[in-house]
Amino acid sequence: MSFTRDNGRLFAEGCAVSDLAERFGTPLYVYSRAQIEAAWRAYDAAFAQHEHLICYAVKANGNLAILELLARLGSGFDIVSGGELARVLAAGGDPQRVVFSGVGKREAEIEQALDAGILAFNIESEAELERLNTVALRRGQQAPISLRVNPDVDARTHPYISTGLKDNKFGIDIHRAEAVYHQAAALPGIQVTGLDFHIGSQLTELEPLVDALSRSLALVDRLEAAGITLAHLDIGGGLGIRYDDEQPPSPAALAQALEPLLAGRAQRLLMEPGRAIVGEAGLLITQVEYLKPGHRDFAIVDAAMTELLRPALYDAWQNIEVVDPFAAKAHHYDVVGPVCETADVLGRERLLALAADSLLAVFGAGAYGFSMASQYNARPRPAEILIDGTQAHVIRERETLSDLWRGEHLLGAQ
Ligand code: LLP
Repeated sequence: MSFTRDNGRLFAEGCAVSDLAERFGTPLYVYSRAQIEAAWRAYDAAFAQHEHLICYAVKANGNLAILELLARLGSGFDIVSGGELARVLAAGGDPQRVVFSGVGKREAEIEQALDAGILAFNIESEAELERLNTVALRRGQQAPISLRVNPDVDARTHPYISTGLKDNKFGIDIHRAEAVYHQAAALPGIQVTGLDFHIGSQLTELEPLVDALSRSLALVDRLEAAGITLAHLDIGGGLGIRYDDEQPPSPAALAQALEPLLAGRAQRLLMEPGRAIVGEAGLLITQVEYLKPGHRDFAIVDAAMTELLRPALYDAWQNIEVVDPFAAKAHHYDVVGPVCETADVLGRERLLALAADSLLAVFGAGAYGFSMASQYNARPRPAEILIDGTQAHVIRERETLSDLWRGEHLLGAQ
């Protein structure tokens, strides 16, 4: 673990978090390079017995420096927009290791991905398949595709981050997929290369993934019998992390659970983890602005739903600790931000010993923290710092006030 305590003081690798807050201000995202790399390597090692490619899900945290260090480890990337593709390329990522997911790929994004020469488009509908075929043919190209099947399994996670049920907008109903594969194989602008699914996020059980894979493999076998052979299987992302007392399966446990199904299969295995790579490697540091006792005791801090949306959006629980604890009486506080929304809560009823200016660390903020941040209430987005031993690299500067209206125009005399 890269976040440790020494005499009570919280450290990120070799840096005292309170020093970082003083140097860079708050709110502040702090990431551990060692932990990100260790998480990626653990994934990679877990699947060593099978040819595989980890395609890190950029949406979890798309900072260029993080993409850069993953690219250097040999990572591929799962993208969902032209913006994410541009980020990967700017960070030195290899386009031949990129898969493109998402239900709403625009024509310009398709062109961009064909220009780059990505590994595969994960096709989410028949309409998208046709659009891709048309664009590829116009350019005299063949576009490599997987169909993202919707295996109709219950991932048993929060309904907002569950994606593999037939009520969800994602993927192609697995019962229709066989027909769509035949359609795809007949399209001259399309090269069928794989099968893909992603059933949800923050998964704490393996069974839904095993189920999804075995349903998918039954389809792969039927396709093979009909002469459609696939080069890869993409099992998506979704492995959970520990926010509270969850016991999410490790990548090794995942690999072990899937191995009996995969043994003897020639297909290269792709996976799209996001949270499991970066989630536990990040903290959000925030300072108390006011303590407001009353019917409920509020600790009003300088971070808000704008920096960490998960508690407001999913009622998610993330651990909050005092950075440098001191002897004081603990109370139950609702830790809230300054944003004008009742939902602007980082944590409810947290037992904390606080002073009027205490620093707090919110754990598990490496994934879906900055990447879901907004400027709502005209709040400049915070800096991001990557810790490497005793060194702190500014990998994104704090936004300035003028960043808030960059690109806006006054009407002037008009
Ligand atoms: N692949 C696809 C196609 C996805 O849609 C996602 C996440 C991933 C991979 C990566 O999933 P992960 O390994 O990170 O669970 N904002 C939510 C999570 C939304 C995830 C959306 N898709 C949260 O903060 O919990």
